[in-house]
Amino acid sequence: MAEKPYTVAVAALGKRGMHHATAVKNNSRFQLVGVCDIDESRVETAKAQLGVAYGSTDATKMLADTKPDVFIFCTLPQLRLPMIKAGVEAGVKLIAYEKPIATSMNEALEMFELTRAAGVKTVVSHQHRYGDHYAKVKEIIESGAIGRVHTVYGTSIGWMMHMFSHMIEYASWYNDYADPVWVAAQAWGTEKYADVHTSPDYVGAIVQFANGVRGYIETGADAPDVPEVDSMWQKCRIGAQGTDGFAEVLTGKAGKGGGWRAVTRNGAWGGPGAMDYDHDMPPYIDQIADWLDDDAQGVATPRVHPCNGERALKGFAVMMAALRSATTGGRVDLPLGRSAEPELDALKKVLDSRG
Ligand SMILES: NC(=O)c1ccc[n+]([C@@H]2O[C@H](COP(=O)([O-])OP(=O)(O)OC[C@H]3O[C@@H](n4cnc5c(N)ncnc54)[C@H](O)[C@@H]3O)[C@@H](O)[C@H]2O)c1
Repeated sequence: MAEKPYTVAVAALGKRGMHHATAVKNNSRFQLVGVCDIDESRVETAKAQLGVAYGSTDATKMLADTKPDVFIFCTLPQLRLPMIKAGVEAGVKLIAYEKPIATSMNEALEMFELTRAAGVKTVVSHQHRYGDHYAKVKEIIESGAIGRVHTVYGTSIGWMMHMFSHMIEYASWYNDYADPVWVAAQAWGTEKYADVHTSPDYVGAIVQFANGVRGYIETGADAPDVPEVDSMWQKCRIGAQGTDGFAEVLTGKAGKGGGWRAVTRNGAWGGPGAMDYDHDMPPYIDQIADWLDDDAQGVATPRVHPCNGERALKGFAVMMAALRSATTGGRVDLPLGRSAEPELDALKKVLDSRG
């Protein structure tokens, strides 16, 4: 463990920014040295609530003034590349930020070129994995109780820019993060293009993984309901089927259903579970310190954060490949390069032309 706590500055003090800042504040391995939002009243509230002396309405200024080890930003999806640039230029060791990682593959590639060149670590908020019910499903799959995994899946009635990132991340986890090799997808509906999480109303993607496993990801209004869960954003079902059974998690919320279930060669089991930020954020933040500690000590096999940016980038590429496939009507091979036009814009033209 490091002798001195890692210093952290947090930008964007909305719902998720406050979750992050609170988890940092409550962890003795970190020291919260600055907060920032373009909304001054949010800065003042956060300073008072978190007991932080420094506040700013400008993230670049905050980084210059506080010189943190870790930069966390939790802006809406439209603001990623400028924040990454600001963090890299300020010389931080690690940048933690929210899903979705970008709004186009071009933007994501530029972000990763910057962080890789500067040796800056990145972590992305796919923190649902810390739910005990999510972990139980992983444990069952890893134990071999469902046999050889041939299929993984993730569905959410929440729309793509909110939920695809989560669905592909955990489905990939249940498949040991094998590389995706191609995607074939369909998409329809443009109502959610008006949302800050700009998306087609529905996206359904078939994903082929390099280890032979097939993935099915669906997000949006026409994705399957999860009737066992009575709260919209937590109607997510993620799991794996194998030669001897299946195991899956229903995200859920306290008092509104959710949990895990499995049918294995040992019989049928299940249990309750619910997504809970207070439960999931502390380990997510703590493992940032593990990774920085190991890096500082030159550990041969460092504890790389399970939500590291390189994993998130792979999942994001699947999402962008799904949009490209829905636009062209064909199979899209991975890894993805740059595109002439942002994927969401290209798809919108096709959806509009269909009327
Ligand atoms: N991981 C999860 O479970 C999870 C859950 C909900 C939302 N999210 C994601 O978190 C992100 C943020 O969502 P939210 O619900 O917290 O949004 P929010 O609207 O509550 O907060 C966004 C904040 O960003 C601030 N902001 C905008 N521009 C800024 C700038 N230039 N500098 C500093 N601050 C700026 C706004 O004033 C606002 O306070 C989204 O990408 C969303 O998809 C993730």
